[in-house]
Formats: sequence, C-alpha cells, structure tokens
Amino acid sequence: MGDTKPHSRPQCDINAAADFILSGGIGGVPTETVYGLAADATNETAVRKIFAAKGRPFIDPLIVHVSDMAMAESVAKFNKDARLLAEKFWPGPLTMILPRKKIVGDIVTAGLDTVAVRMPSHPIMRELIKTAGKPIAAPSANPFGYVSPTKAEHVREQLGDKIDFVLDGGECKCGVESTIVLMTSAPKKLLRPGPVDALEIEKALGEEIDKSPKKNEAHPQAPGMLKTHYSPKSRLTLFDSESEIPADFQGEIIFFKRPDSPRKNSYWLSESGDVKDAARNLFALLRALDKTSKFGFYCQRAPNVGVGVAVNDRLSRAETKFDK
Ligand code: TXA
Ligand code: MG
Repeated sequence: MGDTKPHSRPQCDINAAADFILSGGIGGVPTETVYGLAADATNETAVRKIFAAKGRPFIDPLIVHVSDMAMAESVAKFNKDARLLAEKFWPGPLTMILPRKKIVGDIVTAGLDTVAVRMPSHPIMRELIKTAGKPIAAPSANPFGYVSPTKAEHVREQLGDKIDFVLDGGECKCGVESTIVLMTSAPKKLLRPGPVDALEIEKALGEEIDKSPKKNEAHPQAPGMLKTHYSPKSRLTLFDSESEIPADFQGEIIFFKRPDSPRKNSYWLSESGDVKDAARNLFALLRALDKTSKFGFYCQRAPNVGVGVAVNDRLSRAETKFDK
C-alpha cells in the first residue's frame, strides 16, 4: 500500500487498478450489483488481504469473477446446464456454484470442492479483468455483516484506509448482490435471491430448483443465508401497512412507493413503485439513514415479485438481529 490514502487519490484508472491487482494489491471495484473488494484469485497472499480488510471469517468462500467463457472454464467445470445458464444470463448478476478447478486455491473456496463463478456485466469491471488477464476474487466491499456498498464513496468511507485503490464506476445498476445457484445438487438450489429471477432460471433449465433450501450440512451457508446479515446499526422494523407503525413513532419511515402526501421523516425506495428502483436505492438509503437515525427506522416490504424477492430477503435479514 502506498503512503497516499485512496481518499486523497485522484480517480484511479483501469490500468492502474490492473497493476495493483497484478502486484498483489486489493481494491474496490464497481459491478452491476454492488461494489466488490477485488484481488487476483490466483494469488493467495492477495486474497488473504480481502479477508483481513473485511473482517471476514476464512470459512466464508469468495466469488470468482471472469471476463469470458475461456476464463470461466479455467476456474470451474461446466456441464450442459451451467453452459446454458451462462449463455442466457452472462454477462450479468448470476453466480453459479460449480466443481472447482485447481487454479483456484483453498483460500478462495474455503477448502470446498466447488467454486462460485460469475461473469459481471459492468463494463469497467469487465475491462479490469481483461486487462489484468486474471480471474478476480471479490466479495462485496463492506465490513463483514454490514450493508453492501452501491457507490464508490461507500467503499472509501468504510474501507478506504485498508485498501490500495477504489475504481469509481458510478452507482450500481442493480443495487443488490447477484443471484446464487448451487448447480451441484439435485435439485439445484437457490442460495441467494438476486436480480436474476429464480423463475427465469427454472424456465431456462426446464426444471424446478429448490427456492427456499434449508440449511444443509454438506454445503456452507452463504452468509446471504445467515439470519442476520446486511444489517444497519440502527433498529430496523419492517411493515406491510402503515397502520402497523405506532402513532407516536418519531424515527424515519421508508415506504416502498412515494406516498401521496408524505409526512415528515418519510422516504421511499421508488417514485413509481418499481421493484428494480427499490433494489437500486435500498442499500444507499439504509446507509444514509443509519448515519443520522436517532430512533431507528421502519421500512415497508416490497411486493414479492422479481427482484422484490431479493429486497425482502435482505430486509428481513437486516431486521432479525433486533428480534432475538
Ligand atoms: O453481486 C455479487 O455477488 C457481489 C459482487 C461483488 O459480485 N459479490 C458478493 O460476494 O456478494 P459476497 O462474498 O458478499 O457473497 C458471496 C456469497 C457468500 O455468501 C458465500 O458464502 C457464497 O457466495 N459462496 C461462495 N462460494 C461458495 C461455494 N463454493 N458454495 C456455496 N456458497 C458459496
Ligand atoms: Mg457480502
């Protein structure tokens, strides 16, 4: 790490970021879902730095990001179904858990015989992987357990002094983490709902997948599956109807859709009531309110359709901590 902190660095460009990656550095990178904390997936020392910066336990494996199918096939074994999903949903916000190849070390997979692979669609991330010529391991760029970052400034704020660079690619288009499918079980399992609708995956495969798998000893839980994850520090309570909020509640209220006559302290995830807008805005709004909230906040559940399923999944995990 250089002496100049990333906060004070001017915009980092793709070539500089690729140089950091190739020399064993780590940094914040934009993807279409959330910002990732990137390292060369084939460099154990570099990958270890990711775990240290995030405070992430080593038992929690990372996603490997690739720029093309040749690179994808160098890290994992693809069968017919995996190729079909790759063809249909890549580049894009789908992660497949597949049998791993030797090039990926135990540090990345937590010693499992499978590896999580994804080909992101964000042009800057794709260019970075291509320029570096290496598969890139990247979890979401937040301290372990906190809400994922959807803007470069979120990464700078929380991890800026622990990493070598932040590559700014603007606000993330999807706003929630990729859909994760375990491809090695029968039936296949949805480990984390995300921007790619599980129903679309079933349609593409022509078979049902297990959309609410129970904890399975044979496979690690994605922390995305842990009861408490993605949590703001303030108390968060979910609601469906406004009548559930105590009349004397003084904190902030996040509605799914802009209310007709918003009262003081009202916020909303979408102007028009679109689940995609809600997903894109969710984490940034939770972060912003978390900084100033005195009394905690209420947040309305999204309709359980499309990426609304992922929004509700993240919300319910953020809420749970306070209900134990
Ligand atoms: O959208 C995303 O997926 C973002 C961007 C940066 O690509 N990444 C992301 O990574 O959300 P992370 O580490 O926050 O979440 C990846 C999840 C973890 O919950 C991990 O347990 C799970 O994937 N995972 C990774 N490898 C696995 C494996 N071999 N088997 C089961 N789960 C795995
Ligand atoms: Mg994460």
